[in-house]
Amino acid sequence: MSPGVHRAFAFAEDLLRLNAVCPYYTMFPLDFPFEQMASHGSTTRVLDPFCGRGTTLFAARALGIPSVGIDINPVAVAIARAKVTRVSAGAVVGLAKRILRDDPPSAVPEGEFWQLCYESETLREIATVRAALLNLHTPTAAMLRAIMLGILHGPRNKRVPSYLSNQMPRTYASKPGYAVKFWKARALQPLRIDTLDVIERRAARLLETQPPSPGGKVYLGDAVSVLNSLRPTFDLVVTSPPYYGMRTYLPDQWLRSWFVGGAPEVPYGSAGQIARQPSQAAFVAALAKVWRATALRCHRRARLAVRFGALPSARTDPTRLLLDSLDEAASGWVVIDVRPAGTSPYRARQAEQFVKVGTAVGEVDVVAEMR
Ligand SMILES: C[S@@+](CC[C@H](N)C(=O)[O-])C[C@H]1O[C@@H](n2cnc3c(N)ncnc32)[C@H](O)[C@@H]1O
Repeated sequence: MSPGVHRAFAFAEDLLRLNAVCPYYTMFPLDFPFEQMASHGSTTRVLDPFCGRGTTLFAARALGIPSVGIDINPVAVAIARAKVTRVSAGAVVGLAKRILRDDPPSAVPEGEFWQLCYESETLREIATVRAALLNLHTPTAAMLRAIMLGILHGPRNKRVPSYLSNQMPRTYASKPGYAVKFWKARALQPLRIDTLDVIERRAARLLETQPPSPGGKVYLGDAVSVLNSLRPTFDLVVTSPPYYGMRTYLPDQWLRSWFVGGAPEVPYGSAGQIARQPSQAAFVAALAKVWRATALRCHRRARLAVRFGALPSARTDPTRLLLDSLDEAASGWVVIDVRPAGTSPYRARQAEQFVKVGTAVGEVDVVAEMR
């Protein structure tokens, strides 16, 4: 990939920065949806029934294609909504300023974790923005929410701060007990970080250049229930279901879950998560239901492109599980291609030499066509 240009299309990288507004577990790279869209002629609307942070939706937006995403995790939905939203950095900063100036300071969560994770004034600002956003549903609020999720925790850097927390990973939130031990062992006290400053810098970086939005919608809920209530139809579906046995979407994102309205503690449930099945057969049956519901919303010749893998601990054959689920769906999806992830036949040969093949065990790309 040449610097400054995206592999499948000649996009300047700064045009695509918004895609990185917040990391999300098991997100796939933009290349996968880009390649599917590049090779699937005239796509009028794209669907991702397990949209996560909205990578498919953002790729569609960059190409001027409307999209629909569904996810059962409120954190995923909050990030994905920003991907289909176009607002200026000035509007986002203006909203944050107004909240911090005019809203009453909100109550903050109590306990040692919170005292060590955030400096008290910074925590007050975060809680105030959180409380305001719980009742705001405008595009500007959606963008501010996603930006807050992206800056909520991450490493401390020596110069200008990029994150609001004490030292933490940015991809997932450490569990409170572990984090407290870590900070105490290293005498790491949280620093006063000006929330508005960080929002301002991040918004400017992400939103200065962004693709126009051709329209997109993200639904919070179970893929099958939402699909059954949808009216639009699709000719391309690009998605990645949770890998079998994957239960940590909520616990690993517990601080972000709190920010979007959850309790200030680690949620150990995984309600509605499709990977939470008692057996591989039940998982295959649950996935089959999604492919069936998807088929009902797709045209003839529509394409379904699925990236799938396995957790190293799960002892499963992801290709078998996925093919079985398509078979069990018996809904018109005919498999036309199966190959290791990231080895698309549509990619320029030269670029292929630089591709790192999927990181999770045995990741595979399966493409099916509606017949
Ligand atoms: C592998 S991730 C998708 C990541 C996405 N491709 C991205 O780039 O961010 C799978 C997603 O499926 C969601 N999910 C799990 N069960 C679901 C269900 N029953 N209905 C809708 N979404 C579900 C999870 O919350 C998770 O965000």
